[in-house]
This record gives sequence, C-alpha cells and structure tokens, in this order.
Amino acid sequence: MNTILCSILLLSVTTLILIDADCVGYPNVSNADFHRNEQCSDIVEMTCSDGYKMEAAIKLISEMWKYQKPVCKLGQCMSDPEIENGALDTDIASRDIGIEYSYTCNPGFGKYGNEGHVICTEAGEWEANITCEDPEIENGALDTDISSRDIGIEYSYTCNPGFGKYGNDGLVICTEAREWEANITCEDCFKYTWKKYVKKKPYRTRYGRNQISCRRACNNDDRCTTWFASFVSCELHGKPTIAISRESLRNCKKKCAKLADCELMSWNFICTLFNVTMDNLPRKHKVLSRNGAFIGENLCK
Ligand SMILES: *[C@@H]1O[C@H](CO)[C@@H](O)[C@H](O)[C@H]1NC(C)=O
Ligand SMILES: *[C@@H]1O[C@H](CO)[C@@H](O)[C@H](O)[C@H]1NC(C)=O
Ligand SMILES: *[C@@H]1O[C@H](CO)[C@@H](O)[C@H](O)[C@H]1NC(C)=O
Ligand SMILES: *[C@@H]1O[C@H](CO)[C@@H](O)[C@H](O)[C@H]1NC(C)=O
Repeated sequence: MNTILCSILLLSVTTLILIDADCVGYPNVSNADFHRNEQCSDIVEMTCSDGYKMEAAIKLISEMWKYQKPVCKLGQCMSDPEIENGALDTDIASRDIGIEYSYTCNPGFGKYGNEGHVICTEAGEWEANITCEDPEIENGALDTDISSRDIGIEYSYTCNPGFGKYGNDGLVICTEAREWEANITCEDCFKYTWKKYVKKKPYRTRYGRNQISCRRACNNDDRCTTWFASFVSCELHGKPTIAISRESLRNCKKKCAKLADCELMSWNFICTLFNVTMDNLPRKHKVLSRNGAFIGENLCK
C-alpha cells in the first residue's frame, strides 16, 4: 500500500489538504474530520473536530525537512462552566484552554468565601477555586435545617460525640460579607498515644464463673466498679476503672465520649475506661507497648 501522506500543503492551523491520487484511506488522526473535494476526488481536506486544535510540525530528517503527522489536540472546554449556587460575573466569550472567569456565590452560599474564579484546564474541564456551599459543620451537625440565608441569621449546631474540644454547642452566623462564621470548631476531644495501652488490673479474679454470676459478684461488692468476664475467668475491678468491654476502637471512643466522667480510654482490642487523667492513674496500672493499641486522653472532660 502506498504511503497515505504523499505531500502536505499546510493552509492554515485548522485545515490540511492531503493530495494523493492513490489514497485509499485517511490518515489515522483522532478527533479529525475528512472531506473529499468533489471536483477533484484525490484531494482530501482534514480539519480537527469541534473544540480541537491542529498541531502540525515539520522535522529535519537526514538533512531534509519533513512534515509530521498532524495531531488534533483539545483546544477548549466543551461546555460553559456551571457554578452551583453562584453565577459568573460576565458572559462567556470564549471557552479556550487557559481562559478564566470570575464568579460570585449566591447570597449565603459562600462557605469558602464569596468570590471564585474558574479556569478552563488543559484537560478541557473547568476548574473552580471555591465551591459555593451552605455552612457545613465539620465533625458536627446543624440542629435545624437551613431556611434562610439572610445576613444576621443564626443557626445552632452540636459537635458529634467525641468532638468538641472547645465546647459542644456552636453558633454559626451569616455575616455582612455573606459568609458563614462559626464560633467554635468541633475538634477531636482525644489526645492519642499510639502503640501503648494501660494494663487493666482487677482486684480479684475468679475462675469458672459465667457472665451472670460475675455481674452478681460485682453488684454485691462495694469495692467493685465494673467487671469483665472471659470464657474462663471473672475479673472484678475497682476505682478508677469505670468500664471494660470488648469494643472496636471506634466504639470505645464513642463510649468514653458518652460517659460523663470518662477521662481516659485505653484500647488493646479490649476497651478500658477510667475516670482519672493519665497523671492520676494509680501505679498498679502499667503502661505497656503493643502494635495497634492506643491510649486516648479525653480533653473535653
Ligand atoms: C490509530 O492510532 C491509535 C492511537 O494513536 C491507535 O491506538 C490505533 O490502533 C490506530 N489505528 C490504526 C487503524 O492504525
Ligand atoms: C479564588 O479566586 C478569586 C479570584 O481570583 C480570589 O479572589 C479568591 O481569593 C480565591 N479563593 C481562594 C480560596 O483561593
Ligand atoms: C458559641 O455559641 C453558643 C450558642 O450561643 C454558646 O452556647 C457557646 O458558648 C458559644 N461558644 C463560644 C466559645 O463562644
Ligand atoms: C470515679 O468513679 C468512682 C465510682 O465509679 C467514684 O467513686 C470516684 O469518685 C470517681 N473519681 C473521680 C475522680 O471522678
């Protein structure tokens, strides 16, 4: 088969005319359209598809300048940018790569600021620097739905359990600048020490007891604050241990967050909770190392 591109006449950046009497097919260029000239059927016009731009090059090969196969590269964004909860400041005049437009969030939707800009990237997609959003409380939730975004409107929110280092109840207000301003951030209550755990220390261990009799034994003993039964033994625990259970790490943290006097948690596949800080932990509770284990000090208490 003959070479398809016998000669190339470069007319403009957007159209190539391919001349070859023996052409049986079109060159393999993606995103291109080919038109055969009706009067002279051996002339084929090549243009790039909508939104694509032609890049044609010549190359010096063995001291001869040779045309390279043209490529059709994406030259613009396919559609207009869409700004959710906001609007562009001007009309769209071009969708070329690199073009930028500014936009403004609708009143009350400027969680990340009110003014954004959107740019048509090399990938032919619009990329915006901010999203126009309602207030969203990280690690917490608004107490009610949003019904108004007027300046001065206030909404209260509550931090999720285990969050709220700076308090649990917050207030978010729509400011003059039409941005939401929150009075507290819901931050993790726990200060973690990884790969360490506090060894639980029963004051009595009895063998051959079931859960029910273990609980009864604890209930009948003033010294007992909590109990822990395994298949073979029943442990009775006293101050400052307040709860022991088999829990996932997540549930252990939740459990401590819920208990009013939980100041310290230790997780070693078993969740042990204490109502004293790390500094006030009695010496009998040794701190040991183990991969996967962790200690969490509850700073919200
Ligand atoms: C056309 O080019 C593409 C990528 O350059 C390639 O994957 C494909 O196999 C080619 N097709 C033919 C018929 O040569
Ligand atoms: C987004 O771009 C606008 C316009 O350039 C600028 O005013 C604003 O500060 C930018 N916002 C962020 C979060 O970068
Ligand atoms: C934030 O506002 C709420 C609701 O008015 C209030 O209860 C809380 O004390 C405030 N927190 C701070 C740190 O100002
Ligand atoms: C811890 O809890 C026990 C009861 O479980 C109570 O007697 C003790 O006073 C509590 N200690 C502190 C520091 O709150």
